[in-house]
Amino acid sequence: MIWKVPLFDLHFEEEEKQAVMEVLDSGWISSGVKTLEFEKGFAEMTGARHAIAVSSGTAALHLAVLALGIGPGDEVIVPSLTFAATVNAVHYTGAKPVFADIVSRDDLTISSRDIERKVTERTKAIIAMHYGGFACRMDEIIAVAKAHQLEIIEDAAHAPGARYQGRHLGTLGTVGAFSFYSNKNITTAEGGMIVTASDRIAKEARLLRSHGMTASSYDRALGHASAYDIRQVGYNYRLDDIRASIGIVQLGRLAGDIEKRKQLAGLYQKRLAGLAGITVPFHGEAYESSNYIFPIVLNESCGIGRDEFREKLEKDFGIQTSVHYQAVHRFTHYIDPAVVLPETEYVEAHELTLPLYYRMTAEEVGYVCDSVKKILADSEERK
Ligand SMILES: Cc1ncc(COP(=O)(O)O)c(C=O)c1O
Repeated sequence: MIWKVPLFDLHFEEEEKQAVMEVLDSGWISSGVKTLEFEKGFAEMTGARHAIAVSSGTAALHLAVLALGIGPGDEVIVPSLTFAATVNAVHYTGAKPVFADIVSRDDLTISSRDIERKVTERTKAIIAMHYGGFACRMDEIIAVAKAHQLEIIEDAAHAPGARYQGRHLGTLGTVGAFSFYSNKNITTAEGGMIVTASDRIAKEARLLRSHGMTASSYDRALGHASAYDIRQVGYNYRLDDIRASIGIVQLGRLAGDIEKRKQLAGLYQKRLAGLAGITVPFHGEAYESSNYIFPIVLNESCGIGRDEFREKLEKDFGIQTSVHYQAVHRFTHYIDPAVVLPETEYVEAHELTLPLYYRMTAEEVGYVCDSVKKILADSEERK
């Protein structure tokens, strides 16, 4: 399908190609000097004491949960309106994910009130996922965590460059996890980053990302070590220098990317304001978002189902959309009839994500908004 307006588009230029060629020519392509440079740049950008590059956002989340010493018998409170990896990461460790609802269809992030309701004596941590790069209500979540002595892991997969009260997302809890999957604001095709202020967690994460080895191949190649020990079993969750070199270029471009997304999102908000049939979440608040995606939620009054709406955008207007997300608590593996999350379930059935990407034009935003309005007007007429 050739889309008139695709959902997203990669933003690569000549620099990424040059950076990759430089690594290929250097004779060292696995984790090395470029990975260290990427980590340093990411730590500077976020203000984190430590940044540890890994092979994916999922690996970052897994190591975050492990490094907090969470395992069998423990519970971690998680959102359900997220990508499955947020929840799988808890499951990997043998701990139990416990689902909490979102705030509302205006704020699609995890609800501190529902977190509070789900706390038991087994609860060890909360995972706060900053949906679309819009911050969770961190003041409220930190207050609940303090009251019950819980750790906070931030799933900041959507949030490079996004802030909450001036602080970079991912640095407000104990550990933050970022993703550099291909549709993210910074991409290395696959990749991730852990950030933390804790020396102990950073040390543990570094050890676990490379088999639990006390010295890396790079250290040994530099002659800094000749042997290594394995004190605990780890994984191969390393990032390589080819990907890291792309990440360094993308990191340098992030501020411009976010500025452009902010303008486009502002235009969307203006053009879609006041439509009775839809809710534009995160509207009207002073978010310092990365504007990773642009979600809308259909209201009960809108007179057309979400899937039909998406189909019309595709077939009649050539506009690609997506859904963020299918609720994790309703997947076969996680389903439990006792778990009911009314707001999450409403949004799961009524949300669609409109196109948003760096090279999108104001005209394209206008075209998408006119198409949305046309579908809403037609369904109003049919009523
Ligand atoms: C919210 C969220 N968490 C975790 C992940 C997992 O990241 P990755 O695909 O890099 O493993 C993703 C991305 O795909 C995500 O969107």
